Amino acid sequence: MNIIVVGNGGREHTICWKLAQSSLVDKIIVVPGNGGTAHEEKCVNVNPKDCTYIAEGENPYVAIAKHENCRMAVIGPEDPLADGLADEFWNADIPCVGPKKAGAQLEASKDLSKKFMKTYGVACAASETFVNKDAAVEYVKKHGAPIVVKADGLAAGKGVVVAATVDEAIGAIEEIMEGGRVGNAGKKLVIEDYLEGVEISVLAAVSVTPEFAVHSKATIIPFLPARDHKRLRDGAKGPNTGGMGAVCPLDDVDEETMKQFEKDILQPTLNGLIKEKFDYRGFIFFGVMLTKQGPKLLEYNVRLGDPETQAVLPLMNFDFAEMCTAILNGNLKSFNFEWKPGYQVAPVMVSGGYPGNYKKGCEIFVNERGIKNSKVKIFYAGAVAGRRSGLEDNLLTSGGRVLACSSYGETFTEAWKRAYEGITSIRFEDCFFRKDIGLPGAAESGKL
Ligand code: AMP
Ligand code: GLY
Repeated sequence: MNIIVVGNGGREHTICWKLAQSSLVDKIIVVPGNGGTAHEEKCVNVNPKDCTYIAEGENPYVAIAKHENCRMAVIGPEDPLADGLADEFWNADIPCVGPKKAGAQLEASKDLSKKFMKTYGVACAASETFVNKDAAVEYVKKHGAPIVVKADGLAAGKGVVVAATVDEAIGAIEEIMEGGRVGNAGKKLVIEDYLEGVEISVLAAVSVTPEFAVHSKATIIPFLPARDHKRLRDGAKGPNTGGMGAVCPLDDVDEETMKQFEKDILQPTLNGLIKEKFDYRGFIFFGVMLTKQGPKLLEYNVRLGDPETQAVLPLMNFDFAEMCTAILNGNLKSFNFEWKPGYQVAPVMVSGGYPGNYKKGCEIFVNERGIKNSKVKIFYAGAVAGRRSGLEDNLLTSGGRVLACSSYGETFTEAWKRAYEGITSIRFEDCFFRKDIGLPGAAESGKL
């Protein structure tokens, strides 16, 4: 089977790498892909700009999938999902892993996702939605700080301000609502109670359609719990980023906590997806705060997390393409999820200056000795194949988050040491990485 994978990040490189291991998969068309997928087994990067066969007005992804005889699509990022790309694939008879447009709004609108959580009894922070700035300011003055201000729309991680003071919250309301921070995404605001605790990420496979629900086949199966480290510097300091590294599983999350998560968050979410009659076949990401009052949902993402994917997928002791088929066919309940015992640690290497301005086009040097081990794998994100003469096989940086060095160990310490031996054998001009991914004190604590 040929598969089309949409996206160009570290998550998509990891998905492609895992799909390539399946005997069901012949060829993976990655649109547009990156320097990592360019060199991955079975993978071919395709840029729609180079495809003369795409007719005017035709959806380029669907056109490429048809041209390449793809029988499955996997959509990585949230933007195409929110725009309804899954619907387009299904309309063209191409089964698609990734929710249709209606379900994808759970990530695209914070207001809608909070309404969903409240309607179906998902444990979460109390909140109010505002379209009027004065009313929002009034609410914050009455409520006091700390308090959390969230832009309604997709804002690439820039739409949330955890305000320690009322003044800071008012400043955030003004900046977001006046369009200075996230443009149109901030016309509506959600203001939410501040939750104290430690964050975890639970990625999960979802197989829900109205028909599956009738036959008791609708389900959500959680993967092992993982953690992202969003702040730039060691000890969870510095500005927020897209993610500086991930670890899976987590020693500080016991079975009891996961049971509570399933009862208070996962099960009501499943009930909601069914009641809303969504066609939701793909992945969901639960951003969870472990509070003294139990796990509370911070947000849904309608896709796999990045960089959590780089730490979670290598621990899967099952065929990813088979799991995707089970998601699509309603057989997920009987799918055998077997996990490798042990740990995966994946620090991310970024361009100096990120999340602000940074250089691009720097050559990436990898000392093979540090990574010549089947337990170490580099997943590329902001990296492209070199175009300068003589560098055809080398990669150049093209983004802020450049790569993750993901390593396995039977113990956490083993995985951690291997990951750091690996990452220190990679370099490019001004490269930077956190030294404490997965260590105690590295997690965001939700404490101001
Ligand atoms: P979100 O996009 O809603 O997950 O928010 C981004 C980040 O802001 C989360 O990962 C948390 O670190 C923080 N955050 C969001 N909501 C809250 C809350 N209610 N209390 C404390 N921190 C929060
Ligand atoms: N790691 C969080 C996200 O993917 O948004």
